[in-house]
Amino acid sequence: MGEFMNKKDQWIMGIETSCDETAVAIIKNGREMAANVVASQIESHKRFGGVVPEIASRHHVEQITIVLEEALNQAGITYSDLSAIAVTEGPGLVGALLIGVNAAKAIAFAHGIPLVGVHHIAGHIYANRLVAEMKFPLLSLVVSGGHTELVYMEEHGHFEVIGETRDDAAGEAYDKVARTLSLPYPGGPHIDRLAHEGEPSINLPRAWLEEGSYDFSFSGLKSAVINTVHNAEQRGEKIVPEDLAASFQQSVIDVLVTKTGRAMDEYKVKQLLLAGGVAANKGLRAALEDKFANNPGIELIIPPLSLCTDNAAMIAAAGSILFEKGIHSGLDLNANPGLDIAIHNDK
Ligand code: KG4
Ligand code: ZN
Repeated sequence: MGEFMNKKDQWIMGIETSCDETAVAIIKNGREMAANVVASQIESHKRFGGVVPEIASRHHVEQITIVLEEALNQAGITYSDLSAIAVTEGPGLVGALLIGVNAAKAIAFAHGIPLVGVHHIAGHIYANRLVAEMKFPLLSLVVSGGHTELVYMEEHGHFEVIGETRDDAAGEAYDKVARTLSLPYPGGPHIDRLAHEGEPSINLPRAWLEEGSYDFSFSGLKSAVINTVHNAEQRGEKIVPEDLAASFQQSVIDVLVTKTGRAMDEYKVKQLLLAGGVAANKGLRAALEDKFANNPGIELIIPPLSLCTDNAAMIAAAGSILFEKGIHSGLDLNANPGLDIAIHNDK
């Protein structure tokens, strides 16, 4: 028997093109994943050791219609079933963002459905809502290639950044350290793998910053790793890459977990959500589980790996809440590479 399609079902399509993944997803009733398609360009950027913006834009143009169609097929619906279309409006690479924003505007206009602009980091946080219902107040540790933030939320769609990186993001530090060790881009997963084969025997710094600060800094740690490698080379000594990876990872995790724990205590939250590409890190996941999983009264949520790295399901999930709150964008929506997450607050 065919599935009965309830007229009141909410279907949100999400589009994400802020960096090097062309992604389209469809979420039913805010939390059910009906389709999740991600076309990765990593292979095209690898030989340059990082994302090349012009190449990223060109790939998005080539992929977007194919990925859109595949998402509709996966969900078994057509454009006319959609309640709204959500799209990452920023932050990210402007040329890359524009492809998604223009595709979303065309769909919204052609099918007469609301357009909802979503902040990329709000999306990463809302990936958690595909795992468990959110309970407020909550704290989210956001660790990605471009961001390291502690975000406090008192209610849906309201974001307060209580701490952020003052220099490199955690993922950026991972990628730079990986480059120093001649590992391919993106380096995070390679460092993660090596770290599990080594011992954290090399002394590296931890940037705690001023007492009470929830900000982060990873550039000093990154420089210390680079210096360790260069000094060893000059002395003709060999460093064990596994040990260096383990030591670096331990330093990153120590700071992230300690500051998160302090913020959880101070803000008396009900949930801790992990978000962003670095949330795929096995060491970080294990450390958070070890420290907070048995914390009575505080629920720890860690999304599956596919929802940690860039995807559009998270954009549709965040878009669903904005849509319900009546927060829609006009057809003059533009890509905004420096968008502030507070864009969603108090509207
Ligand atoms: O969230 P994301 O997919 O893109 C941004 O919005 O930035 O994050 C990508 C970052 C890259 O820096 C990548 O090296 C890092 O996430 N990453 C990891 C792991 N998997 C991805 N870092 C550490 N350990 C991992 N297992
Ligand atoms: Zn991201």
